[in-house]
Parts: sequence; structure tokens; C-alpha cells
Amino acid sequence: MKPFALTTERLTLRDFRRRDWKAVHAYAADLEVVRFMPWGPNTERQTKAFLARALAGRIEDPRTKFEFAITATPGDRLIGGCGIRVSSPADRGAGMGYCLHRDFWGHGFATEAARALVGFGFEQLGMHRIFATCDTENVASARILEKIGMQREAHFREDTLLRGKWRDSYLYAVLEDEWAR
Ligand SMILES: CC(C)(COP(=O)(O)OP(=O)(O)OC[C@H]1O[C@@H](n2cnc3c(N)ncnc32)[C@H](O)[C@@H]1OP(=O)(O)O)[C@@H](O)C(=O)NCCC(=O)NCCS
Repeated sequence: MKPFALTTERLTLRDFRRRDWKAVHAYAADLEVVRFMPWGPNTERQTKAFLARALAGRIEDPRTKFEFAITATPGDRLIGGCGIRVSSPADRGAGMGYCLHRDFWGHGFATEAARALVGFGFEQLGMHRIFATCDTENVASARILEKIGMQREAHFREDTLLRGKWRDSYLYAVLEDEWAR
């Protein structure tokens, strides 16, 4: 099992640990945080099940799922999570996402984490295309995806049934040669 840790100026993205569950639950149980997410607000059991899946992903061979804790450095304060999943090994395609505790919004942390995650996808996983989707009303997330160099490729109408309401979403992606430039 190869452990991964990515470092940026202010953050470390590392594999989750079982004992992270309380810090994860602090954001995963917050209705405002999960407003645009297809999961949550979590029960404690759901948060622990998420961590169990994240840990199981570490021992896959080849590994296709990378769920990382976002921690603030120096120290190891867990402020959120992010992940990248190889969705199409033959096409070298992956999807990514991120989520932060509300106390840490508005400081550029998600942009910093997302950029590191995409760099990891291209430079260490050898991906050709990395995509992300977001609710069309999730302005902050769409902005992050644009800031890290993704292009909006599609607007899907009512493709998601979220807590009883149909929602639109955007598809964003970046290609390896665009990233290299
Ligand atoms: C979306 C989320 C990750 C943003 O995290 P963050 O650390 O605050 O994001 P950043 O500070 O890196 O960047 C946000 C950008 O959006 C902009 N933004 C935020 N809210 C905005 C709004 N209502 N209108 C316009 N721009 C907005 C910010 O100004 C910033 O852009 P800038 O650097 O050009 O000023 C965070 O709010 C979150 O975890 N939300 C819940 C989970 C979620 O929605 N995840 C994404 C699923 S697709």
C-alpha cells in the first residue's frame, strides 16, 4: 500500500485515517456544507462508512480511488476532504471533487487543494483528462474549477434529483496538454 501526501504552500493532502472521523463529521453533518452534494447531511454511521470506503480504496491494486484529508500546515488540523477517482483507465480519465468545513471557506484553500489534486492526477497518475461537475448555483465551486484552468464543457439540465428537487449541473474538464501549458 503506497501512502500519498501532497503538500502545497498552506496545506497537506493526505490519506484519511480512521481517527479522522470526528473532524470529517464536523463538516459532513452540516446541511449548509452539503447543500449541493448528492450525500449528507451525514449521520455518524455514514461518516464512518465513508472513511471505511476511503481506507478500502487505499489497498486496491491498481489504486483508482484517492480520497484525501485536507489539513492545514503547520500541524494536522483537518479542514476538509477532496478526492480523485480514475473513472476510465483505458481513456486515462478521472473525476475530482472537494469539500471544506464552513469555518475555512473564503481563504482560497479549496482552490489550493483542487490545483494540487489535478496536478497529482496528471503528473503522478498519468491522466489525460480530469473532470468535475458542480451544481449551476454553486458559484464558488464553478469559480474554483475555472481558476484552476478547467473549461466548462456542458450544462446538464435537471440531471440530478437533490432532496426532492431537480437540479442543473455544469461539467468542467482540463486536458493534460492544457495543464502542462
Ligand atoms: C465550494 C467550496 C469548496 C469553496 O471553498 P473556498 O475555500 O471558500 O473556495 P476558494 O476561496 O478557494 O475560492 C472560491 C472562489 O469563489 C468565489 N465565490 C465564492 N462565493 C461566491 C459567490 N457567491 N459569488 C461569486 N463568487 C463567489 C470566491 O470569491 C473565490 O474566487 P476568487 O478567488 O476569484 O475571489 C466550499 O464552499 C465548500 O466546501 N462548499 C461545500 C462543498 C461543495 O459545494 N463542494 C463542491 C462540490 S462541486
